[in-house]
Amino acid sequence: MEYISSKNIFLLLRDTLKLHDRRPMDHGSRAGYLFCKMLECKGGYEQYEIADFLMLATLHDIGAYKTDRMGDRLNYEFKEPMPHSTYGFLFLKNLTPLESMSRMVLYHRVPCKKIPGNEFQYSKETEILSLAEAAEVYHLALGDGFDHKMFRRQEGTFYSKEALDLLDLAVARFDVFTHLTDESYQKELDDILEFMIFTNEDKKKFIQTLMMCIGFRSEIALIDAVTCVCISGQLAKKLQLAPESAEKLYYATLIHDIGMLSIPAKIIEAPRKLTKEETALMRTHVSREEKILLNRMDSEIVAIATAHHERLDGSGYPKGLTANKLSREQCILQVADVVTALTCERSYREKLSSQEVIKILKQEVKDGKLNRQITDCFIDSYDEITGMAEKEAGEALNIYRSLTSKYQSVYGDFKNKNN
Ligand SMILES: [Fe+2]
Ligand SMILES: [Fe+2]
Ligand SMILES: [Fe+2]
Repeated sequence: MEYISSKNIFLLLRDTLKLHDRRPMDHGSRAGYLFCKMLECKGGYEQYEIADFLMLATLHDIGAYKTDRMGDRLNYEFKEPMPHSTYGFLFLKNLTPLESMSRMVLYHRVPCKKIPGNEFQYSKETEILSLAEAAEVYHLALGDGFDHKMFRRQEGTFYSKEALDLLDLAVARFDVFTHLTDESYQKELDDILEFMIFTNEDKKKFIQTLMMCIGFRSEIALIDAVTCVCISGQLAKKLQLAPESAEKLYYATLIHDIGMLSIPAKIIEAPRKLTKEETALMRTHVSREEKILLNRMDSEIVAIATAHHERLDGSGYPKGLTANKLSREQCILQVADVVTALTCERSYREKLSSQEVIKILKQEVKDGKLNRQITDCFIDSYDEITGMAEKEAGEALNIYRSLTSKYQSVYGDFKNKNN
């Protein structure tokens, strides 16, 4: 997949999560910087390995999006860290290509003596990450009163001597805390990111991860996203789209609603019609996602994704584009998105019957909003397409929900071993 560079995959994932709440990602970037500089002092790493560690470190608190209140960092980092560590580990292991490093997240708030040694290839790096992230939290909280030597009090109990020595070195050699304070660390992070290398398979998986992130905000929004991917894929097949167009449509559909991460769940899941203000806020999801997608991903893919609420007669949003400005792929995603909204259950209404859905779709075509040929294609294969969509959405949701049951068992196991 040449539609996006490895560096931009990372930036997209980071900034999409920031739409939900920027704090864990800002903390992750800063802790990641300290971590990479400590690794540099340790030596023996290729630059692409440091870049991989940076990605992992930036995402190390991803579990907190599911398990904790973001504003309560002291609680989830220091008082009860295992819920976010466990969920983050499972998310990275099961839904991203970072499986081999994911245990670093599981152990990132564990005393150094309890991090498994022999059978875990990244135990040393985990000890270093643990100190890097604690140093970031305290540096930010204490400001001028911060002294990185404070962690020596926990030498050998919580933090390893090697990690503490590396922090001393990073301070002496790179003046890391000054760079955090004056924000110049960001330029250095940027330089490290240039060395990120992912295979096309990895990139594909990361884009699928992006869609799964919608579940942090709302499970309903995630079901919609998965359903829409299936419907647009079926339409592309039935309409015999060229392979490259079908592929671009696939990626566009995966990411078309990532902006929903910025919309409060109580609006997405409101069991009633939205007010004028809420509708206006809801509609901002497109411009918000466009901001983080532009210049990072193939422009055609971005154009397909961000036109999913446009309509042929110009009545859609955000740009009010009309038929002559809309490509076939954009029109397919519009139909798939409307079909998804009509066929998925909603908290404010019963599931619509196929007759009702078809009636509404025909009216949309008659009103000049949806493409006739594409809509007819869907109606002609209604049962087949909706049946498959339901099955696929069910499967994806099962994988997502299985994280919760795995979470309970890994977390339970961990508690038993350490009590
Ligand atoms: Fe953490
Ligand atoms: Fe953290
Ligand atoms: Fe949308």
